Amino acid sequence: MTGSATSPPPSQSVDRAANMSDDDLAALCEAADAAIIDGGGFGWVNPPGRKALERYFRGVLLVPERELFLARSEGVIVGSAQLVRPPRNNEAQAFGATLMHAFVAPYARGHGLARLLTERVEECARAFGYQVLNLDVRETQEAAIALYESLGYIRWGVHPAYARVGGRTIRGVYYFKLLQPGGRVRDGT
Ligand SMILES: CC(C)(COP(=O)(O)OP(=O)(O)OC[C@H]1O[C@@H](n2cnc3c(N)ncnc32)[C@H](O)[C@@H]1OP(=O)(O)O)[C@@H](O)C(=O)NCCC(=O)NCCS
Repeated sequence: MTGSATSPPPSQSVDRAANMSDDDLAALCEAADAAIIDGGGFGWVNPPGRKALERYFRGVLLVPERELFLARSEGVIVGSAQLVRPPRNNEAQAFGATLMHAFVAPYARGHGLARLLTERVEECARAFGYQVLNLDVRETQEAAIALYESLGYIRWGVHPAYARVGGRTIRGVYYFKLLQPGGRVRDGT
């Protein structure tokens, strides 16, 4: 039985993937599928099918600018997020990275895993030397908005035509967080 008042909280962990076993890939695709069906939030509106998801996540592992983080509950992958570095030609914005495509499967939500996932991505970005972490999210993703605001992300803008879901245009909200201690919005030096 799970979820009773006497059940201990599930053991949770987050790791950065260099590669993935077939079992891990299957669990990741199942989690992504469930999250998309539940309302998405990381691009897909309709589940693209297992083969497309497998190709997508295998592809992510091959992109040098992307780090894939895997969120596990009791050792099983139930969510993920990506840390995306700026392209090499973008010298002016080389100090900032982007957190994208974060999700936790509906069956694993409400236990603090997304918070842990976000904190791990931030730690990694900090370790890489980034000073700013950017992210954006549909205005309808209320849980995500509450999560990021509770972690100190600052809302700086709203995109009025951010996404189309079910024939409806949805606004997007844009956030940033300064990662280094004592970071300031305006340096001026
Ligand atoms: C947003 C999401 C990742 C949260 O996952 P989760 O593991 O349930 O989140 P956590 O348990 O770590 O909760 C952390 C905080 O998020 C907020 N939060 C989580 N679920 C919430 C809900 N249903 N309503 C309001 N706030 C919520 C709270 O601030 C919570 O902190 P608290 O527990 O101290 O109150 C998950 O709901 C999800 O995958 N949503 C769809 C995809 C998405 O929106 N991705 C984000 C950007 S692309």
